[in-house]
Amino acid sequence: MRILTPTSTLRDWTPDDAGPLLKHADNPRIAGSMRDAFPSPYTPDDAKRFIAKATGPGPDLFLAIDVHGEAVGGIGIHPKSDVRCRSAEIGYWLSESYWGQGIVTDAVSALVPVAFGRYNIVRLQAGIFSNNPASMRVLEKCGFTREAVHKNAIWKNGRSLDEVVYVHFG
Ligand SMILES: CC(C)(COP(=O)(O)OP(=O)(O)OC[C@H]1O[C@@H](n2cnc3c(N)ncnc32)[C@H](O)[C@@H]1OP(=O)(O)O)[C@@H](O)C(=O)NCCC(=O)NCCS
Repeated sequence: MRILTPTSTLRDWTPDDAGPLLKHADNPRIAGSMRDAFPSPYTPDDAKRFIAKATGPGPDLFLAIDVHGEAVGGIGIHPKSDVRCRSAEIGYWLSESYWGQGIVTDAVSALVPVAFGRYNIVRLQAGIFSNNPASMRVLEKCGFTREAVHKNAIWKNGRSLDEVVYVHFG
């Protein structure tokens, strides 16, 4: 898959992305806003493992955020299962060197219709840690609604945070 946005290209991951992935992902300021599956420090093995998962079989969609030919972030759609099978989650991160240029806003805007076209879903959601206003702003700019606050739902880096749930209904 290849999606052009005004500020980046969203494309499939390849094994050649392992070096850039390691360079850009190894940042505690990124990991601090992500689930613990996104490690810090981020090692060469973590990069290889992620690319194997992102290029392997499974329902999830993992795309690299490519700027000038280099993978500088990631964005994904993760369908839920069982009674939540009509819902999916969106997740994303971007190299700190590229923050504040509208890149993730453009990426999320482009991927929302793709998610609703590809999966039989009626809601696309994201759970944002309460100390991440930039990510909330991205979702608001992309038409997501702030739906709920789950008090103390997150335990990250030794402290409790609220989880703010944003949703898009397509
Ligand atoms: C959050 C993140 C994805 C944003 O990506 P980005 O490409 O820099 O975002 P954009 O430039 O498209 O938009 C950021 C918006 O947040 C705003 N913003 C940035 N810091 C902010 C802050 N501290 N408080 C309020 N708004 C803030 C920006 O001003 C901008 O809004 P604007 O266009 O209205 O001015 C990026 O910082 C990141 O990868 N962070 C670490 C990982 C992460 O948080 N992932 C998401 C987990 S839910």
